[in-house]
Amino acid sequence: MGTFLRFFGFFTDDNRIDEATGLTEKQKKLVQNTWAVIRKDEVGSGIAVMTAFFNKYPQYQQYFNAFKDVPLPELPNNKRFQAHCASIITALNTVIDSLHDPGLMEASLIGLAERHKNRGQKKQEFQDLKEVIQEVLRQALGRQFTSEVAEAWSKTLDAAFTKIYQVLTV
Ligand code: HEM
Repeated sequence: MGTFLRFFGFFTDDNRIDEATGLTEKQKKLVQNTWAVIRKDEVGSGIAVMTAFFNKYPQYQQYFNAFKDVPLPELPNNKRFQAHCASIITALNTVIDSLHDPGLMEASLIGLAERHKNRGQKKQEFQDLKEVIQEVLRQALGRQFTSEVAEAWSKTLDAAFTKIYQVLTV
């Protein structure tokens, strides 16, 4: 009977919480469906994140040798900046795509954190970027950023950044 009801969509595991991420299946779908909107324009979305980041924390632009001296208003047209913006979104694609496989997600986050740690990046810088990402998502998704979607994203970012902070302890 259970199989029969499940087949017709009466029972789903959508509300079951995945202990590794703290997310329900439904929340994972909300995150993946809304991320699909963002990843459609990798360069544009990456520019939105990185310009908001440098606007709020101008000192962080200095870490990027390829475009550290480019004036902020000129950055969106700078191809080296655009290339970096696209690579950030690609890295996040990998994380969001692996939500169904927390071990794989953890492995890519640890790799990302280690590469940044080796370049001297600090936990606080990631905390600052996390808040900017949340704000850009809210703005980019507009009416799609319902309270349900906001909660799903908040849990996803908490889970992902907790892994990063395990590597970047300072
Ligand atoms: C979710 C957070 C982040 C993602 C997904 C991300 C992604 C990336 C990617 C994909 C690269 C190039 C390849 C690599 O080394 O992994 C990179 C490089 C870099 N990232 Fe990040 N990053 C993040 C956070 C940060 C933060 C918070 C900072 C510092 C404020 C930072 C500074 C840098 C620097 C300086 C480079 C080297 C750029 C170069 O000269 O080539 N990143 N990042």
